[in-house]
Amino acid sequence: MTKKIKIMSVFGTRPEAIKMAPLVKELAAREEFESICCLTGQHREMLDSVMEIFKLSGDYDLNIMQKQQTLSSITTRTLLGMDEVIEQAKPDMILVHGDTSTTFAGALAAFYHKIPVGHVEAGLRTYDKYSPFPEEMNRTLVSDIAALHFSPTKANSENLRRESVQGEGFITGNTVIDAMKYTVRDGFTFQTAKLNELDYVNRRLIVVTCHRRENYGEPMENIMQAIRTVAEQHPDVDIVYPVHLSPVVRECASRNLSGVENIHLIDPLDVEEMHNLMARSYLVMTDSGGLQEEAPAMGKPVLVLRRETERPEAVEAGTVKLAGVERETILRLANELLDDPAEYARMAKAVNPYGDGNACRRIADAIAWYFGKTAERPCDFNP
Ligand code: UD1
Ligand code: UDP
Repeated sequence: MTKKIKIMSVFGTRPEAIKMAPLVKELAAREEFESICCLTGQHREMLDSVMEIFKLSGDYDLNIMQKQQTLSSITTRTLLGMDEVIEQAKPDMILVHGDTSTTFAGALAAFYHKIPVGHVEAGLRTYDKYSPFPEEMNRTLVSDIAALHFSPTKANSENLRRESVQGEGFITGNTVIDAMKYTVRDGFTFQTAKLNELDYVNRRLIVVTCHRRENYGEPMENIMQAIRTVAEQHPDVDIVYPVHLSPVVRECASRNLSGVENIHLIDPLDVEEMHNLMARSYLVMTDSGGLQEEAPAMGKPVLVLRRETERPEAVEAGTVKLAGVERETILRLANELLDDPAEYARMAKAVNPYGDGNACRRIADAIAWYFGKTAERPCDFNP
């Protein structure tokens, strides 16, 4: 029997887990690979929830999370923990995803051990070092380390080409669209009681999330105040906001938004509930990266609560608007979508610039090609 290629996927936060889960499953199903997972545990509860939904478990778990952890503590704890794991597991390749501190430290640990890195969701850029912070620098540094770059879109891959990044690049689509094949279902019933009490037929639902570090402080205060005003001005609307477990975010959300009848602050949802809730929404307001990819695929307009985005594709397609972090602008854009049916209709169309649900197959094919298991380079995703 020929030796299997040992692939170790390293991830630790909720979005990485959601986007890596279908890839881990694809690798495990193929005979040319042995697939193992090293969890950093940068997120504890939110990571475990994703693993449970996708019925996955980690082979290693660094369990690094601390309350109000600093960027340095995430990075150093991951780096030191991975030294030992790599010595033991001896993988042929390490996969990391996106732009978190787990991603950066995971890639750096692989580099120190001269293990080739595959970077999933490569080439997203704002070209502003401090926004998103620290993600822009994390993903840029990982591009210099990686041997294989799996870009969701052509524009992402062109960024890497312009930067003369070394290694092999592939356009694969985003694995989040693959993940949605597991989660979104007709007739889905919620376990979270609040979500079964809402009237999805006669009332409109806005789904809100907000957590980015560069929004901490004044921008987040502005965002929360805008959301409160939207709720107060539109009693016919329900706002559901599953609040991130970050203590900074929870304090800001509860101080600004508690006690408003049509704002429902709830704990983070598992990914099945979240995706099915978004599928029933009228509008999404968020600073999340993942939601900017998922909502357009469901035909839901998105107001992005940030100054810039590294995901311009859906903005160009017209389903996402950059609302910024000023109270008045956010309010005006939300009111426009709530009060002007023509404007709503212009934005509410399903577009899929981010993937066709086959990203994981393309990534696995590319890895097999890199290790000489097949002569054929996979075709690029072309929406
Ligand atoms: C991290 C990523 C960010 C990503 C986000 C997704 C970095 C620097 N940031 O930011 O890119 O968009 O995850 O959500 O990598 N906490 C819990 N339980 C959990 C998860 C978090 O208690 O399951 C709390 C802890 O107190 C932790 C804090 O949230 O210290 C912040 O978590 P952290 O991973 O440092 O930052 P995020 O804002 O989640
Ligand atoms: N998500 C979830 N439960 C929630 C909020 C978000 O499962 O309560 C999912 C969401 O659908 C998306 C991912 O988490 O797939 C996005 O994660 P997050 O916003 O934390 O990070 P980002 O994408 O901004 O890095």
